[in-house]
Amino acid sequence: MADQQKSESPVVVVANRLPVDQVVAADGSVSWTRSPGGLVTALEPFVAGRGGAWVGWSGSAGEAPEPFESGGMQLVPVELSDDDVDQYYEGFSNASLWPLYHDVVEKPEYHRTWWNSYVQVNRRFAEKAAEVAGQGAIVWVHDYQLQLVPAMLRQLRPDLTIGFFLHIPFPPYELFTQLPWRNAIVEGLLGADLIGFQMPAAAANFVQLARRLHDLPTKGSTISYDGRTVTAKAFPISIDVSVFDSLARSPEVLARAKQIREELGNPDKVILGVDRLDYTKGIGVRLEVFLELLEDELVEAPSTVFMQVATPSRERVEHYVHMRETIEQQVGHINGVFGSTSGPAVHYFNQSMPREELAALYRAADVMLVTPYRDGMNLVAKEYVAARGDNGGTLVLSEFAGAAAELKQAYLVNPHDKDGVKKQLMRALRADPEESARAMKAMRRYLAKHDLEHWAGSFFAALQEEAA
Ligand code: ADP
Ligand code: F6P
Repeated sequence: MADQQKSESPVVVVANRLPVDQVVAADGSVSWTRSPGGLVTALEPFVAGRGGAWVGWSGSAGEAPEPFESGGMQLVPVELSDDDVDQYYEGFSNASLWPLYHDVVEKPEYHRTWWNSYVQVNRRFAEKAAEVAGQGAIVWVHDYQLQLVPAMLRQLRPDLTIGFFLHIPFPPYELFTQLPWRNAIVEGLLGADLIGFQMPAAAANFVQLARRLHDLPTKGSTISYDGRTVTAKAFPISIDVSVFDSLARSPEVLARAKQIREELGNPDKVILGVDRLDYTKGIGVRLEVFLELLEDELVEAPSTVFMQVATPSRERVEHYVHMRETIEQQVGHINGVFGSTSGPAVHYFNQSMPREELAALYRAADVMLVTPYRDGMNLVAKEYVAARGDNGGTLVLSEFAGAAAELKQAYLVNPHDKDGVKKQLMRALRADPEESARAMKAMRRYLAKHDLEHWAGSFFAALQEEAA
C-alpha cells in the first residue's frame, strides 16, 4: 500500500465513491461493480485517460481494501465505519444537504452528531488525498459530501492546486442559511482555487453568500479570501457523447432495441423513464400523469406503455423508503386498472442495468420523460439525445433540470404543473416526425460540441489558469 501511494499522482480525483463498488457475497467473496450515478459516468473516462488516482469510498462499511489499479486509474479506498455510513453518508450528506440543496423538496433534518461525523470523514478524505498527490499536483474534489475537503487539504498541502465541483444544485441565500454549520461549509469550499457549479445561478448564489455571510470582497465571479482569489463559475457537466453514440449504433444494441419493442408487444408508443430512485426525480408525477391520460382516454394501454427503470439508491434513508412504497403502489394501481392479459400499462424495474441495455432502451423509446423537481444537470437526458443517432424520439424535460438550459428544443415542463406535463407529453407523443427530427438534430449538434471532454477540459484549463 505504502509503495502504491508513493507513486504520487499528478492528478487526483477525490469523490465520495470510487468508480466501482465493492460487493461482498454471503460466502465472503468480494467482487466489484460500477457505482451508480452521474458523477462516475462523467469522471471515469477523464481520470483513466490521464493515469490519475481516484480517492473514494468502496461502498461497503468496514476496513478499506488496499489501493489497486483499475481501468488505467489508481483507486485509493477510504474507510467508512457503520457509524460513518449512518451519520456522514445517509445522515448529513443525504438527509441534511441533499434535500436542502434540492429546494427542500423534502424536509432536511439537522443533527449535531451527523455534522461531527461529516467533519471527521471529510478530514479522512483530505488526509488520504494529501498522501497520494504528487508535489504541485492538481486535486479535483467532488460534490456535496466533501465540501470541507478543499480547506482541510490546503492546510495539509499548500503546494497543491485545488478545484472543487458541485454536481448538484447550490441553493439561494434564503435556503442555505438554514444550515446551522453554514459558515464552516462556505469556508471549506473557499479552500479551493476554483469552485465549479452546474449553473451560473448557483455560482452567483455562492458568491452572494461569501459577500453577505462572510463580508468578503467579491468582483464578478471572484472572491478575495485569505490573501487569495477564489473563482466561482459554472461548468455544465456532460457525457462522453461519441462513446454513447457509437454504443447506441452498434448492431447488438439496435437488435436489442427491436427485441425490446417486440417483447412489449410492438406498442405504438413507448414512454421511458430512467433514474436513480430518488424523490427529486419526479417519478411519481410521471405515474400520476400517465394514469390521468389513461383515465381521460387520451392514451390506451398496452398500445401505449410506460417503462420506468429506477436504480435502487440510498435505501435506508427514510424519505427513500417512503417514496419507493408510494411508487410501487402507484404502479400496482395503474396496472390493476389498466393492465390486461396482453400486458401491463406500466413496466417498472427497480434494477440497475448495464449501459448496453440502457442504450437499447433509449433507442426503443418514442418519448423520454425526465421530470425532476430539481436536478443539478441530469445526464440521462443527455444520454438519450446522444443515443438517438437516428434523430428519432422526443424528449420531455423538466425546466428545473440543469440540462434544460442546454437542450432547448426539448418539450419543457414544470413538474409541479400536472396539466402542463400532460399537455407536453401528448404533444411529444403526437409530434410530427420531421419536426421532432429537427429538434433532435439541433440538440445533438449542441451536445457534440459540449461533451465530457469539453467540460473537464474547460474546468482544468480554468484551474491551471488559477494556479499560474
Ligand atoms: P444522478 O447523478 O442524480 O444519479 P444523472 O441523471 O445525472 O442523475 O445520472 C444518472 C446516471 O446513472 C446516468 O449515467 C444513468 O445512465 C445512470 N443510471 C440511471 N438509472 C440507471 C439504471 N437503472 N441502471 C444503470 N444506470 C442507471
Ligand atoms: O450527482 C449526485 C450524486 O450524489 C453523486 O455524488 C453520486 O455519485 C450519485 O449521485 C449517486 O449517489 P450515491 O453515491 O449516494 O449512490
